[in-house]
Amino acid sequence: MQNEIGKVLACEKEIRRRVAELAAEIAEEYQGKPLTVIVIANGALFFGSDLLRLIPLKLQLDILAISSYIGTHSSDRITVRSQLKVDIRNRHVLVIDDIFDTGKTLQSVMDDLEEQDPVDIRTCVLLEKRFSGQIGRRPDYAGFAIGNEFVVGYGLDYDEHYRNLPYIAVLSEHMELRSCADPVS
Ligand code: IMP
Ligand code: MG
Repeated sequence: MQNEIGKVLACEKEIRRRVAELAAEIAEEYQGKPLTVIVIANGALFFGSDLLRLIPLKLQLDILAISSYIGTHSSDRITVRSQLKVDIRNRHVLVIDDIFDTGKTLQSVMDDLEEQDPVDIRTCVLLEKRFSGQIGRRPDYAGFAIGNEFVVGYGLDYDEHYRNLPYIAVLSEHMELRSCADPVS
């Protein structure tokens, strides 16, 4: 498995630090507001669980299971594999996903949620890719900005593999590991 893991973009320590910063921002924003958090599974399970445990607010939690990637390619078909249990009418909604890539997944989720009359919807992603041609609103909260490369770990997968890596790395055949002391790009 290790020979497919390339450059580490964020190690455990860096992820922990950034997740804590995001949690503080989100906790301040939603203080005193009726909040429903929707975690997109499977990709955002690790990120969502670490983030939410650092947000000391009363909130409702639900999960939407969605698939869009086939191998390392974004598919145009977004498959929703579950339904919400909670009613989001009159609630502030925060959608947590692993990565903003083409933007199609979050756009499609937001379109569906809008129809259910929430007060507002914001999005929080662990990673935000930046390249031209992305669609929809950019995420309101993003952990790290990265280039247009395929990454795995901390919830992100390649054909359901590598989600359990505790760090985020580029999927590659070239070994280019770096230590946690190096700066994040
Ligand atoms: P989008 O619809 O193109 O924005 O893609 C969003 C979904 O594709 C994410 O929630 C991920 O599950 C998956 N995805 C996009 N880029 C990557 C990547 O670099 N590694 C692993 N999964 C990715
Ligand atoms: Mg995926």
